[in-house]
Amino acid sequence: MPRDEKLDHLRGVPLFARMGTRELERLGELADDVEVGLDRVLAEQGAVGHEFFIVLEGRVMVLDGNTPVTTLGPGEFFGEIALIESVPRTATVRAEGIVRLLVIGHREFHALMDEFPSVRAAVMDAVAERLRRSEGV
Ligand code: CMP
Repeated sequence: MPRDEKLDHLRGVPLFARMGTRELERLGELADDVEVGLDRVLAEQGAVGHEFFIVLEGRVMVLDGNTPVTTLGPGEFFGEIALIESVPRTATVRAEGIVRLLVIGHREFHALMDEFPSVRAAVMDAVAERLRRSEGV
């Protein structure tokens, strides 16, 4: 994807709302942009997780076993729990059609969290909320 287009995508992600252009450019260097097709499994419940994902276009389904939990769309993210808590993937995440994603590796994800406290805060909020729901509290 052309650099400017990537930057526009990053600018539209609420998680990165507090970042300036230079910071978004740096983020663009840390992240890969990928497109996947229907039914592609992006995270598999119980497996080791290596990446953090941000949905740019399309939707993904979050499943607990075969039970749908929710869907996530543009601007939303997943895959953070395994990376932060050092646990296996807590859910399966599957593409609902053609989905464009930003993929950030484990090490880059931690660098991002370290460099940007606003990102860390937003991600930690989501972890708390999602773990609470998966434990039925
Ligand atoms: P992780 O456990 O690494 O891999 C599966 C991902 O699904 C998980 O991180 C979260 O990002 C996401 N996830 C798990 N439970 C929920 C939920 N209740 N609502 C939204 N997303 C979830």
